[in-house]
Amino acid sequence: MRPNMHQISELSLHTGRNMPVMGVGTWQLTDDTAGVIDAAIRLGYRMIDTSGDYGTQPGIAEGIKRSGAERSDFYLVTKVEETDDAYEAVGRNLKELQLDYADLMLIHRPPPSGAGEELWRGLIRARQEGLTKDIGVSNYSVDLIDTLIRATGEKPVVNQIEWSPFGHSEKMLRFSRENGIIIQAYCPLTRSKRLNDEKLAGIAARYQKTPAQVMIRWNLQNGTVPLPKANRQDHLQENLDVLDFVIADEDMKELNGLNERYSSLGSLPYA
Ligand SMILES: NC(=O)c1ccc[n+]([C@@H]2O[C@H](COP(=O)([O-])OP(=O)(O)OC[C@H]3O[C@@H](n4cnc5c(N)ncnc54)[C@H](OP(=O)(O)O)[C@@H]3O)[C@@H](O)[C@H]2O)c1
Repeated sequence: MRPNMHQISELSLHTGRNMPVMGVGTWQLTDDTAGVIDAAIRLGYRMIDTSGDYGTQPGIAEGIKRSGAERSDFYLVTKVEETDDAYEAVGRNLKELQLDYADLMLIHRPPPSGAGEELWRGLIRARQEGLTKDIGVSNYSVDLIDTLIRATGEKPVVNQIEWSPFGHSEKMLRFSRENGIIIQAYCPLTRSKRLNDEKLAGIAARYQKTPAQVMIRWNLQNGTVPLPKANRQDHLQENLDVLDFVIADEDMKELNGLNERYSSLGSLPYA
């Protein structure tokens, strides 16, 4: 059992299961993946986001072991690639993770044509066989999610997309809320690129918090689920210390107003 049970709460998915309100990202967590994951779990992180193509799954398996966490202590999200046979890829990922099941399996990105209907059917089969509890998508637009639902009758529980005060979309937020689909926010810290923004720094100073903490808190108050990545233990700790303050409505409006469709990756695929 983890020595430090943090206060990360959960939100409900449309399937009736729950998911922690924030997690830790692991893209390029290559310095010492096992050490970082062990530390993150001990600090109180409960959700870990990875993918077959990050190369971090074996290190995550080792980190979980070192932490002594039980399976029910953590929530594991991983992804299949658009070129994969989705059902087979689920098995490969679980083997690397040394797990019997994932909590959430995502289509990493839509294929070049279509909405990924075959991939989706592979994930549905994996879920029916208990290899994952829930299924979702990543980097999908509103239109692509609509197409997928129409073709298969199956609604994703989340859409994992780039999402920060500097890059978000009212249309996507409204669609997701109306359909009970949770937005998981990747690059919630803009890969550090906008942490020095003057307006953001001004708001952070008012709450005696850091810009990173304000970007994370902005997500929590919007009901979107941030997945900040941090190699450094002080960053891991700082990013968890976001539960003891509330951003006032006028400051939330100012943060929403920072939107310039900014993307650390080049462009927002859904906007
Ligand atoms: N589905 C997708 O297509 C997709 C795409 C991209 C990312 N993701 C997921 O989303 C996760 C997060 O995105 P990301 O890793 O690209 O970017 P990010 O979380 O926005 O930024 C990570 C960077 O911020 C730094 N940082 C962390 N906490 C900080 C703090 N409190 N103060 C200052 N700097 C801080 C980290 O430094 P240190 O590492 O030195 O601590 C790292 O350089 C990924 O790791 C991955 O799991 C998914």
